[in-house]
Amino acid sequence: MTDNRRPAHRLEGSSLKGKVAVVTGASRGIGAAIAEALAEEGCRLVLAARSVDRLEEVAAYLTRRHGNAVLTIPTDIGDESQARNLIERAADQFGAVDILVNNAGVGIYGAVDELRLDDLRHVFEVNFFGPMAAMQEAVRVMRQNGGGTIVNVSSIVGKFPQPLGGGYTATKFALQGASGAARAELKRDNIDVVLICPGLTDTEFSEHSRISVPGAEHRQGERHSLGQGIEPERVGRRTVTAIKRGEREVYITLFDRALVWTAVHLPALFHWALIYVTRYRRRLFEAEAEDSSSQ
Ligand SMILES: NC(=O)c1ccc[n+]([C@@H]2O[C@H](COP(=O)([O-])OP(=O)(O)OC[C@H]3O[C@@H](n4cnc5c(N)ncnc54)[C@H](OP(=O)(O)O)[C@@H]3O)[C@@H](O)[C@H]2O)c1
Repeated sequence: MTDNRRPAHRLEGSSLKGKVAVVTGASRGIGAAIAEALAEEGCRLVLAARSVDRLEEVAAYLTRRHGNAVLTIPTDIGDESQARNLIERAADQFGAVDILVNNAGVGIYGAVDELRLDDLRHVFEVNFFGPMAAMQEAVRVMRQNGGGTIVNVSSIVGKFPQPLGGGYTATKFALQGASGAARAELKRDNIDVVLICPGLTDTEFSEHSRISVPGAEHRQGERHSLGQGIEPERVGRRTVTAIKRGEREVYITLFDRALVWTAVHLPALFHWALIYVTRYRRRLFEAEAEDSSSQ
């Protein structure tokens, strides 16, 4: 895989101190970790999510520990007007938006032939249309201020399909497509677009994912991931490095990079492996459906 680091960047080697960073999905998990990594750099922060209490907790912790100015803006990013309003309010409050981290996201489990399309539309609103609206508003503000960085948090499954996660995968493929185009389009505006592709990370993501598997809906809120994953703090620190370097696309672990390499360069082998993963995951949900009917 080629090294995608660009040699020169406005922020490279320089400090992020005082930069205004908007982080969506900052109430927990990867978003909270990215917010803390940016706080350590001395950024002024605007944190967004729906859970007001958890958002306030993160904000209070960051102010206590790092002394940063932190504004919380309760936002449902899947609502276009709220997504646009978030950026507007951030710019009004701090006079700039230098960094936008589109991190908020939700998963959906279900086979492609069974997914309820209303569920899928909701996930697209949160994972794709919300980030698009925030990105459009942020570009407007960044242009006025001479540049900035947009970070879109995708996933390794934005690079290859995830069995029983095809709907989620599709949202991340879409985000990647828009990010790549925007990176080229916005170069003349001195705006970097950085795609972060984490693999399995130890957060509440699976518990909050929608279940669109007939007979298994009642398992909503339980953990369904295939393992534990890495600490979100690692994603947070790596994201800050990527912002400073203006990187195009970032993997967090060598294992993630190797998986994506295999998917791209050995597609037949990868497809064969996916068939086994499909069987395993299908059995997981079928077993869950059976468990509940016997209770
Ligand atoms: N965990 C993984 O294994 C993994 C791997 C690759 C990529 N990712 C990606 O990383 C990002 C963060 O996920 P995570 O693992 O940290 O999951 P998480 O613990 O479930 O956190 C998701 C965050 O998004 C927010 N969010 C969800 N729906 C929202 C909405 N409609 N409006 C505003 N905020 C919303 C949540 O806050 P509220 O509920 O308070 O709104 C929360 O802060 C996602 O984009 C995910 O796709 C995760």
